[in-house]
Amino acid sequence: MKTLSEVNMCGIVGIISKEPQELVPNIITALNNLEYRGYDSAGLSFLDTSTVKTFKCLGAPSDNLEKGEIYAKTAITNKKITTAIGHTRWATHGKPSIKNAHPHLDCTGRIAIVHNGTILNFEELKSSLQKIGHTFKSDTDSEVIAHSIEEALKHEKKFEDAFLHAIKMLEGSFGIVAIDKKNPGTLYVAKNGSPINIGITDTMFIVASSVNVLLHYTKHYIPLSDKECAILSTNKGILHQEILQFKDKIQPTSKQPKLIKGASVEDMSKEGFESFMLKEIYEQPKTVQATLLGRYNKKTGNAVLGGLTDHEKCLKQLINIITISCGTANNAGKAGKGIIENLTDINVRNEIASEFRYQKHNFKQHNSLIVVISQSGETADTIGALKVAQKERYKTFGIVNVVGSAVSTETDTGEFTRAGTEIGVASTKAFVAQLTVLYLFALKLARMRDMEKDEGKHLISTLENIPKHMQKVLILDKEIKKIAHKFKNIKNISFLGRGIHVPIADEAALKFKELTYIECGSYPLGELKHGPIAIVDKDHLSVIIMPKDDQFALSKNSIEQIRSKGGKVLIITDKSAEKDPVIQKADATIIIPTIKQNICYPLLEIIPLQLFAYHFAQQLGMNVDKPRNLAKSVTVE
Ligand code: G6P
Repeated sequence: MKTLSEVNMCGIVGIISKEPQELVPNIITALNNLEYRGYDSAGLSFLDTSTVKTFKCLGAPSDNLEKGEIYAKTAITNKKITTAIGHTRWATHGKPSIKNAHPHLDCTGRIAIVHNGTILNFEELKSSLQKIGHTFKSDTDSEVIAHSIEEALKHEKKFEDAFLHAIKMLEGSFGIVAIDKKNPGTLYVAKNGSPINIGITDTMFIVASSVNVLLHYTKHYIPLSDKECAILSTNKGILHQEILQFKDKIQPTSKQPKLIKGASVEDMSKEGFESFMLKEIYEQPKTVQATLLGRYNKKTGNAVLGGLTDHEKCLKQLINIITISCGTANNAGKAGKGIIENLTDINVRNEIASEFRYQKHNFKQHNSLIVVISQSGETADTIGALKVAQKERYKTFGIVNVVGSAVSTETDTGEFTRAGTEIGVASTKAFVAQLTVLYLFALKLARMRDMEKDEGKHLISTLENIPKHMQKVLILDKEIKKIAHKFKNIKNISFLGRGIHVPIADEAALKFKELTYIECGSYPLGELKHGPIAIVDKDHLSVIIMPKDDQFALSKNSIEQIRSKGGKVLIITDKSAEKDPVIQKADATIIIPTIKQNICYPLLEIIPLQLFAYHFAQQLGMNVDKPRNLAKSVTVE
């Protein structure tokens, strides 16, 4: 792989409208809604009586475009225009700076482009363009696009042809929107590897890297496929679209608009909550309900998963499942391992996508299934691992939130998680939705093996009641805030549990790190004495997840070990264990409802841990919706 001096994933938007109108506020709102894709700098360009006007800022668009200088200039925001583009950036290499913020222009200032993705051959392109006199102003890979179009215009008469010529030279991934001052009322769009969606209304085209942005205007959209470009124009009050493929040769293609599903405008609003993350934590009962809806049959005690109906034979023969995923989705995969191995005789391995894609694999393809788990369905490492699995001829099953995403379209089959749009960068509701699908998937596999009908019914009834129990856990919010405050001076923290609770400890630690920037560990509780206990002292907090299941007595033993070293203990357990003397001695406890099936506790116990991380971060003054250095979907390697 080539080393880039700067790559980005980012959010992009472009609008053309039939009639001149105040488009700058529209672009800024769109960028606010794309902020989850990156927020270290932002910018926009528009055409104003045949000149390209560009404005940039450091930081998030909602903080610095909306509340900053640009917005204050009514001459800009009130300007009635037909053509505008915008960008919010997440840099992985090189410092965020105004010069690196998009849009990028060519030498003459005629062309402005926004780009999401990575141009792998940018160094070669840049150096040959420099040799023939092009001057670059940024360190980005993206700027070569503007200069390549400028260069192509020396021999192509039409801008469209120069654009296509330049695009064909690019290697790597891109979603691009370009504007040209000599062609007002036209957007030039191209896609390869990074998402591009074209929203269609009676009065405008709006192009964006996420369908959420389009929802403010329309539910009708055309998702571009890889190696497709679109020329969107408005002329004499008529909107015109031309879609072309640029594979071996350039040829027109026709695409029918689709309806946006699985996302709503409500998802984009905080609805009275102080942050998106808190809203999404509170949405979890609804999320589990939505994810379960219509996916089980109480009479047969079985799961009803449409994505599996044509694959019964393969599922019966399954010996191995390999989950591939990153971050929170990987923690869901680890919980899935516990659930599936508990209920069936199938072996489950969890592979981190960025590792899987470069490893040798010894599983036999005919009796193995790859389960790809991803909220966004866009994570570059996950897609890379999926491609490797496909090349090695494994069957693939996706557990994905975003409809139409790469993972959802590339896997052989799968199930959507129905969590709706998740804006908070630290994942919450998408995680419980992934777990919910994994319970149903495990139930299906188990009922194909030796799980009795009544056992199936029992599991279904526990799952059905989870949303109600989740509501009870959410009532503990204020209490959890006080607990976070009580431990605010703690120096370091470990999250611990046994068996099925270990992945939840991992997810709790991930949430805590993402939000507070405090290093913390997560371990199987029994492993504590084999090393991590060395860090236990009066300034150390052990957060222990231990509902009253068959490992409860063992867990109590470990608590005594921690207390004997002077460490502080916060216990998450269920109502049936509340009176236990060891629990009573803890420095703090969070009591969740007792449920019928121990295997379902992860769905409940993660909520207080999300809230604990949330309130801990809030009291430190952190930006909980947009933690530093992170982005919602990491579309670069
Ligand atoms: C990034 C995000 C994590 C997320 C991971 C996987 O690293 O910051 O929060 O869990 O990607 O994302 P995915 O969309 O594939 O679930």
